[in-house]
Amino acid sequence: MTAAARGARHVAIIMDGNGRWAKRRHLPRVVGHQRGVEAVRALVRGCRQLGLECLTLYAFSSENWKRPEDEVGDLMNLMRKFIKSDLPDFIEHGVRLKIIGDWQGLAPDIVTMLDDALERTAGGSMTVAVALNYGSQQEIARAASRAAAKGQVTPEAIEAELDTADLPPLDLLIRTSGEVRLSNFLLWQAAYAEMYFTDVLWPDFKVEHLQAALDEFATRERRYGGR
Ligand code: IPE
Ligand code: IPE
Ligand code: MG
Repeated sequence: MTAAARGARHVAIIMDGNGRWAKRRHLPRVVGHQRGVEAVRALVRGCRQLGLECLTLYAFSSENWKRPEDEVGDLMNLMRKFIKSDLPDFIEHGVRLKIIGDWQGLAPDIVTMLDDALERTAGGSMTVAVALNYGSQQEIARAASRAAAKGQVTPEAIEAELDTADLPPLDLLIRTSGEVRLSNFLLWQAAYAEMYFTDVLWPDFKVEHLQAALDEFATRERRYGGR
């Protein structure tokens, strides 16, 4: 059965645990981040058959700037490399790239690369939304002020201004690495999403793990406050 048949249209993942993955192997953190990128690549390729409409990935938070400069630099370089190496695959397989967060605040060359990638993947059918320089509280504040400027601050008006406004409602939110918190990710969108926490560290996360999460999702009874 596909994810669509089970009802999951939109899955989001907090990709956590790269540092611990490296530490356990006495490797530099950057190796954990490199293996994390490989896990993203394999998952994006492997999940095309699952019938999801959207996969949203938390790649860099607005709070991750607090990390040492060399780690932030490594993460930005990995982002540059990933866009270059994987854009052709996205285009070839009809993956639409979307970026959420304050990505215009990234380095100018990354903004240019992303602009190009967004344009060239615009026709794709499955969306991979990458959260870059993303903070949910900041997103909600931006959305609320845009809604206010248009004269209406209702939940519907705010929702229509969120970065995710054009995406299906969030069904399932996964966090790897054993941490049980949202770390400023999709706070609004998670209102009625199902939560799934796994101890698997992000570099070890495979399409089978996503399938296991979707299987668990299929057993959940969603009530939305009703009965
Ligand atoms: C997730 O792995 C990657 C980013 C936050 C960019 P971490 O680097 O947070 O790994 P841990 O949590 O230290 O293991
Ligand atoms: C959340 O992970 C951000 C990403 C996965 C990109 P963090 O590792 O930054 O979160 P905290 O600091 O443990 O809450
Ligand atoms: Mg972490």
